[in-house]
Amino acid sequence: MALETADLELAGLRLDIAGQVEADATAPAGSVATVTLSRPRRRNAMTPGMWRGLARIGGELPPQVRVVVITGEGPSFSAGIDLRLFSAEGAPGEETPPDPRSAGFDEWIAGCQAGYTWLRRPDIVSIAAVRGHAIGAGFQLALACDLRVLAEDAKLCMKEPALGLVPDLTGTKPLVDIVGLPRALEMCLTARTVDAAEAARLGLAEIVVPTSDLHAAVADLTAALLATDPATARATKRLLSLAPGHTLAEQAAAERRMQSELQTERLGPLPPR
Ligand code: CAA
Repeated sequence: MALETADLELAGLRLDIAGQVEADATAPAGSVATVTLSRPRRRNAMTPGMWRGLARIGGELPPQVRVVVITGEGPSFSAGIDLRLFSAEGAPGEETPPDPRSAGFDEWIAGCQAGYTWLRRPDIVSIAAVRGHAIGAGFQLALACDLRVLAEDAKLCMKEPALGLVPDLTGTKPLVDIVGLPRALEMCLTARTVDAAEAARLGLAEIVVPTSDLHAAVADLTAALLATDPATARATKRLLSLAPGHTLAEQAAAERRMQSELQTERLGPLPPR
């Protein structure tokens, strides 16, 4: 694969493309990619290099991958942006972010956001496996995933406003979509920490398990997702993703169209009469 392990390591990332899922030996080889944030001594603090590495993984993912698991090494999922980037010295080996008043700033953030947006692609289902803290950019990464499995010790926090920043790594839309505007406003402007039990109540976690069971819970979920036919899974994800922006009539029309497309793909076109 074009993705060099050494380059990913430099970005603080590890990529493992697994064969069979433990819980389901029938899953085709190579169908599960696990991306590990791997800077445990800094609680997986994130840098522009890491976001670009994530974007490269998304861009070069082998086509047989159907489930992507994002996880963190060590006790925290991620402590958010590497705070050294805000110091005069910066973070070693990292580009200095451009001046927010400069013309290139918008494009620069778009490049960082690209590390997040691919996780919503219809051909994959992404799962954030979160233990410990997911703060700021780390919480937004969990929000960028389709599903979240939390360990009981998980702690979610949108810290940016407390640091004089708006959250800008694609997290505001999924947060509002999931918890609603008033709760999102309250969480962001108080920058408070949401524990796993509350996250489950708010819909921010699909599953909460004891920390020692996190890996097994993700493997079970992955196996269940892979049991669905790939084309059906893809079409269903596309269909469901359209629903929030549609009226009932528009969504009903989308259901008809996608059913026809899916079955035509499966059966081939009608023979000529
Ligand atoms: N950046 C750089 N280094 C960090 C870091 C971060 N975000 N978070 C932790 N570290 C480092 C610590 O400095 C410490 O380093 P040393 O061992 O050299 O002292 C090491 O990681 C371990 O940290 P702690 O001893 O604090 O570990 P803990 O388990 O007691 O606490 C924590 C973990 C609650 C995550 C705590 O480290 C913490 O609060 N970190 C800062 C979180 C933060 O404010 N992040 C910014 C979020 S905003 C954002 O992300 C903005 C954006 O998108 C643009």
